[in-house]
Amino acid sequence: MGYNIAIDGPAGAGKSTIAKQVAHKKGYIYVDTGAMYRGLAVYLLKNHILPEDTEGIIRACQDADVSIGYENGVQQVYLNGENITGRLREEAVGDMASKSSPIPEVREKLLMLQRTLAKEKDVVMDGRDIGTNILPDADVKVYLTASVETRAKRRYDELKAKGAACDIKQIAGDIKERDHRDMTRETAPLRQAEDAVLIDSSDMTIEEVTDAILKLCNS
Ligand code: DC
Repeated sequence: MGYNIAIDGPAGAGKSTIAKQVAHKKGYIYVDTGAMYRGLAVYLLKNHILPEDTEGIIRACQDADVSIGYENGVQQVYLNGENITGRLREEAVGDMASKSSPIPEVREKLLMLQRTLAKEKDVVMDGRDIGTNILPDADVKVYLTASVETRAKRRYDELKAKGAACDIKQIAGDIKERDHRDMTRETAPLRQAEDAVLIDSSDMTIEEVTDAILKLCNS
């Protein structure tokens, strides 16, 4: 069993930024589980399968092979052998991932991939149900959150920097909607594991959050 650090939390809390930093400092592998759900979502979009077509999504679970690899330490997602990493951050892909991930067959499909990685390697794994469901015996569990306002502002700045047109109220509304979906679904909803340490990053720098997690690893 590798050394396992589980980081869960809502969209936009900074999980991937922090998890990457922690993985880098520890020399561990960073596993972005959201990217796996996004990988399957790319398949659904490519094949024009709608989010409400549960049967179609379940069939897609058999036809879509989602796997991950690393190039220069950066996680890549492959869909039936094709590297589709460049598409993962598209808004439509995130939306489809959020709508298809509550389906138990979708979660079951990606569960083994996640557990096998954690068994074989020292990992920092982020997602929604890592501490509660995927790695209940993780060495360190963190629930990383931030206020809706902070998360909306971070996303707004990110989009603006890319030159994209955006409206902060709309972004905040989308974040609330996604939180609601992730937290109220029946299968593996987003919640803080009983033995997870809560970190609210609203008023913390990336370095402060990273250091707080590294301290947990040494305690
Ligand atoms: O973290 P992210 O935004 O890349 O995740 C995209 C969607 O995938 C998110 O809305 C919920 C889902 N997801 C999940 O259900 N379980 C995970 N462990 C990770 C992501």
